[in-house]
Amino acid sequence: MPDASGPSNDVRHERPEIVVLGAIPEPGLEVLRGAGDTWCLTPGVSAGELRERLASADAVVSLITDVIDDAFLDTAPRLRIVANVAVGYNNIDVDACRSRGIVVTNTPGVLTEATADLAMGLVLMVTRRLGEGERLIRSGTPWSWGMFMMLGTGLQGRRLGIVGMGDIGQALARRAAAFGMEIVYHNRNRVDPTVEASLDATWLELDELLATSDVVSLNCPYSPATHHLVDAAALETMRSSAFLVNTARGPIVDEAALAAALRDGTIAGAALDVFEHEPDVHPDLLGLDNVVLVPHLGSATVETRNAMAALAARNVVAVLDGDDAITPVG
Ligand code: DGY
Repeated sequence: MPDASGPSNDVRHERPEIVVLGAIPEPGLEVLRGAGDTWCLTPGVSAGELRERLASADAVVSLITDVIDDAFLDTAPRLRIVANVAVGYNNIDVDACRSRGIVVTNTPGVLTEATADLAMGLVLMVTRRLGEGERLIRSGTPWSWGMFMMLGTGLQGRRLGIVGMGDIGQALARRAAAFGMEIVYHNRNRVDPTVEASLDATWLELDELLATSDVVSLNCPYSPATHHLVDAAALETMRSSAFLVNTARGPIVDEAALAAALRDGTIAGAALDVFEHEPDVHPDLLGLDNVVLVPHLGSATVETRNAMAALAARNVVAVLDGDDAITPVG
């Protein structure tokens, strides 16, 4: 007979430990709290406490500003998942995670429309000189309406060249079509012919896209293959009347070369949501009127950030439950 007073043979299911590497919206935290002991890194937390939390963490929720590399992974030996709250995941060494059996997830889909809205907004801002106009008014400089004052470039009939025709590129194409723009694109692989037809979009070699587009929008992921995809030579290929818009990742553009091209009139203007050495911005860009600069706001709406956090959290729950991740990368 088993001794009822002795140690129990019950298998104890400890709650998994989840480390969130920065503030995320409540809809994500709520899901995580239901799945395990959730600890959120807040400003002022000591390195020692973070180390202790990571040492026993089963899951990490990361932001694009967190570098998840071998050194980081060494501090978290129990990790089963890294859930990035972003669609881009160039902050994570996916191979290093894979070699340790750690699942990596991102948040595609939920930020598509918000990021495309921002890209379209930047197209309008730079072609219609809206930042310049705002700065003029705020500076207190006297002005009055003038026939030739601050003339911009209309979009009707202009060619938009989209580099990277994923979800966000396609959502931008739909918006630009409503402004009367002709859509061309470059992508490693041509998109499905039905999608191409529905967007009325034509695939071009990158050089031809750069040489013939009135606006070039970067919507591709960042990887070694896209590092400085837009460099001095690419900018030389573009029309002197053309505009560059980047809502993807900063290092896709050689920022020093871009600043020189904007200064020298190699291209007409640029609008940047992302920067090569974020959060730093190349100092030569700051004094130029023909560049719009915004601080990585692509997915920054309340609804979108809530949805991103919730999706990241649902990925954590799935993996901790032993299920497949909802949106794994790689
Ligand atoms: C992304 O999701 O990759 C964005 O850049 C972060 O909002």
